Amino acid sequence: MTCFAQMEAHNTIGSQYQHADIEDGYIGDLTYADYRRAAEEHFSFMLPLIDPSRVAGTAFRDYVNEMNEISWEFEDQDEGGRGVAYNLAQRNSRNRIVGTLSLLRCFSKNLDEVPGSDKIILDALAGDGTITRLLQTEKLRAPTIISSDLSSFMVKACIAQKYPCIRQSATYSLLRDSVLDGVLIAYGSHHLDNAARKQASLEAYRTLKVGGRFVLHDFETGAATANWFDKVVHPFSRTGHPHRHFTRDEMQTLLQDAGLKNIQVFDMADPFILEGTTPDEARVNALMHVYRMYDLVRVAPTLTEALHKLETCVNDVLGGIHIEQTGSTWTATIERQALVAVGTKVV
Ligand SMILES: C[S@@+](CC[C@H](N)C(=O)[O-])C[C@H]1O[C@@H](n2cnc3c(N)ncnc32)[C@H](O)[C@@H]1O
Repeated sequence: MTCFAQMEAHNTIGSQYQHADIEDGYIGDLTYADYRRAAEEHFSFMLPLIDPSRVAGTAFRDYVNEMNEISWEFEDQDEGGRGVAYNLAQRNSRNRIVGTLSLLRCFSKNLDEVPGSDKIILDALAGDGTITRLLQTEKLRAPTIISSDLSSFMVKACIAQKYPCIRQSATYSLLRDSVLDGVLIAYGSHHLDNAARKQASLEAYRTLKVGGRFVLHDFETGAATANWFDKVVHPFSRTGHPHRHFTRDEMQTLLQDAGLKNIQVFDMADPFILEGTTPDEARVNALMHVYRMYDLVRVAPTLTEALHKLETCVNDVLGGIHIEQTGSTWTATIERQALVAVGTKVV
C-alpha cells in the first residue's frame, strides 16, 4: 500500500481541492461526484467530516486505482471474491449480536453501555454495513456508525441501503483529524498485514477526537477460533485465507505505538448464534451460516456432504454446536473467543 502512505506527501494545499475525476469509478461504476450526491441525500452529516485535501488531485486518483487493484477478496464473484456469499450470510443480522454489542460497549467509559446517536463511530472494515443493519433491525440504542470498507462491492451495498458510508482503506482515511468518537477495526483485522496494522492504528488515532476510543478486535494466534481459519477456512474457502491473527502483545504494542493510552487487552465471547423452529433446523442454519460466511465451496462436492463434513470440523475445532430451546424457538450456538484491545486518545 505504498501509495496510501505517500498520499499526504503528494497532496499539496491549494487549487487541487477540486474533486478528482475518477474515470474508472470511485465505488465500482460510481464516481466520487455520484458518491457525494448520495451522501448529500442520505447522510449529509458525513460530508463536513471528509478532508477535502484527501479527495483531490492525482493522489486521490492513484489512491482509488490502488484500492481497485488490491481489493478482490470481498468483491463480486467475477473478480474471484466471496462478497456475495459473505453478504448472504449477514442477512441474518443476529448471528454475531453478542460480540457486536460487547464491542460497541467498549466505546463507553466503563465498557458497559452502547453509546447513543450523538457519538460517531467509524467501522473501518464494515463490509456491507453489518453492524448498522443489526442495530436497525433490532431497533437498539445505537451510535451513529459510518461504514467504511476497501471493497467497492461492499460500499455500493451500503449506499443501496442508505447507510452512512465511505470507500477507503483503513490505512488511509479520507476523514479529517479529530472528528470521530470511536474507531472500530473488527471482524477482518487479520486481513491487514503488519505494515497496514500499524498504519491503520495511526489513522484511527489521527481521526479520533481527544477522549475518543479505538477498539481493535480479532482472534488470538494459536487459540481455537484462529485455528478454525487455518484448518478449515484456508483450505476450503473459495478465496483461501492466508492471514495471520494477533497476539496480545502485538495488540498492546500497536495501540501504544499509535499514541493511545489506558490500553486494555482482553478476551471476549463472540459466538455465532442461529435460530430455527426445530433443533435440527437451528443446527442446519448454523452450518449453512458458516458455509456461506467463508464461502466454503471446496469442502465437498455437494451441499449435503459439505454440511456433514463441516459439522465434524466445528466439533473438532470449535467444540461443537450447542442447541437449546428459548421460548418457542431453538438456538444453535457455536462458541468463539475473540481478542480485543481498547485504547483512548488522551491528547
Ligand atoms: C470479514 S469481512 C467483515 C465485514 C464486516 N466487518 C462484518 O463483520 O460483516 C472483512 C472486510 O474487511 C475489508 N477490508 C480488507 N482490507 C481492508 C482495508 N485495508 N481497509 C478497509 N477495509 C478492508 C474487506 O473488504 C471486507 O469487507
